[in-house]
Amino acid sequence: MTVSILLDKRIVLGVTGSIACYKAVDLASKLTQAGALVDVVLTESAGRFVTPLSFRSVTGRPVHDDLWNLDDHVRHVRLGEAADLLVIAPATAQTLAKLAHGLADNLLAVTALAARCPLLVAPAMDGGMYEHPATQANVRLLRERGVLFAGPAEGRMASGLVGTGRMVEPAELLGHIRLALGRNGPLAGRRVVVTAGPTEEPVDPVRFLSNRSSGRQGLALAQAALDAGAQVTLVAGPIGEALPVGVEHVPVGTAVEMRDAVLAAVARADALLMAAAVADFRPAQVAQQKIKKTVAETDDLAITLARNPDILAEVKAQKEKSGRPLVTLGFAAETENALAYGRDKLERKGLNFIAVNDVSAADAGFAVETNRVILLSADGSRVEMPLQSKAAVAEQLVQHVADSLETLSSQQRN
Ligand code: CTP
Repeated sequence: MTVSILLDKRIVLGVTGSIACYKAVDLASKLTQAGALVDVVLTESAGRFVTPLSFRSVTGRPVHDDLWNLDDHVRHVRLGEAADLLVIAPATAQTLAKLAHGLADNLLAVTALAARCPLLVAPAMDGGMYEHPATQANVRLLRERGVLFAGPAEGRMASGLVGTGRMVEPAELLGHIRLALGRNGPLAGRRVVVTAGPTEEPVDPVRFLSNRSSGRQGLALAQAALDAGAQVTLVAGPIGEALPVGVEHVPVGTAVEMRDAVLAAVARADALLMAAAVADFRPAQVAQQKIKKTVAETDDLAITLARNPDILAEVKAQKEKSGRPLVTLGFAAETENALAYGRDKLERKGLNFIAVNDVSAADAGFAVETNRVILLSADGSRVEMPLQSKAAVAEQLVQHVADSLETLSSQQRN
C-alpha cells in the first residue's frame, strides 16, 4: 500500500558492510511498496553480504556500486542532488568515521558529501565498537551537524555478545524515514494531542468493562500528524498495535486517567484529535478482591455504574479559560441518526470538527482497516469521505486541522 509521505520521494539508500545488510533489502522493498523511488548505493564490503541483484529485484531500479563509471561520470552529484533523503542503513563504524571526517573514497561517501538533503543513519556494529570513544566522538560530531540517527538498538549481535549496536528493524526505520521527510510539513512546530483506543474500567482485580475499539483510527491520526511534521502526544488506552515512531506515548487505563492525561497535555497543545472510545460509565465500586459467584443470592448479579467525565466537555471548559487547544476534533461513532447526533455533539462539546461514522456498517468503524466518515465543521461545512483506509481518512482529517490552524494564525497576524 502506498504511503503519501513516501509517494514519489527519491531516497538514496546507502548500504555498508555489515551482517545487517539483509535488513536493508527488506527496507528497500518496504520503501518501494510504499511508493518511494529507491536508489541503492552499495559499498564494496556490503557487496560481500548482499548482491546488487537483491536490491535491483526489490526496487526495480539500477543499483550503484562503483564510483568510476564511464557512462555516468558525475553519478554521485546526480544522486545526491536529486535525493529527498539519504539513508545509510546499515552504517558501519568505518562509514560513520568517514562521514564525520569528510573522507570520500567510495561512491557512497562521495554522494554523502555532494548531497544537500537530510542524512539519516542507522548504525550497526558489534561488541564495544559503538561504545568506543572514537565512534562516540564521531556520532556526536555528526549529530551536531544535524545528521539524524535511528538506533542502534540493544540486543544480541552477530558475535553472540549482547549490547548496543544492532541495526533497528526495517519497520522502525521506516518510521524514522517518515519523521525525517515530514519535518517541514504543514504542522511543523505544532503540538498535537491524539487519543486512541478504548478505556478499561475495572470491576474487580481481574475484570473490566471495555469496548471494541482497536485504536487503529487514532494511531493513523497520530501517524498522519507526525507525517505532517507535528510533535505528537498519544494518550492511549490499551491497544495491541505497534505505535508510530516518534510519538510521545502516555498510556492510560480508565476514562478518569485519560481525562487527567488529556487535560495536562492539551494545556500547551495546538490541536486535540479525540479518537478514543471513552467508556461513558464505570463500575461505581471496584471490588478489592475477585468477585465470587456466590456473592449473588440469585443467578443475577447487578453492577451499579457511575457516569464518567466527558473529556471533551472538560477540554471545552479549559479552552474557554486558557485558549488551548486551539483546534479540537472529535468523533461520533453512531449506529443510527449519525448526522443529527454528530451535529449535536459538535455543538455540545464545542468542537471545531467532528468526524461522524456509522459503526454499524461492517466495513467502517471498529476493528477494521477502513472507514467512511462525514466531517462536520463548526462553520457549517460538511465533507464526505467515502470508504477508504483509516490512514487516508486520517491524512484528510489532519489536513483540515492544519488548514484551520493556519487560518487562525493568519487571522492573528492581521
Ligand atoms: N468522548 C469524551 N468523553 C467521554 C465520551 C466520549 O471525550 N466520556 C469523546 C469521544 O472521544 C469522541 C466524542 O466524545 O470524540 C463522541 O463520543 P461518542 O461516544 O460518540 O459520544 P458520547 O459523548 O459518549 O455520547 P453518546 O454516548 O450519547 O453517543
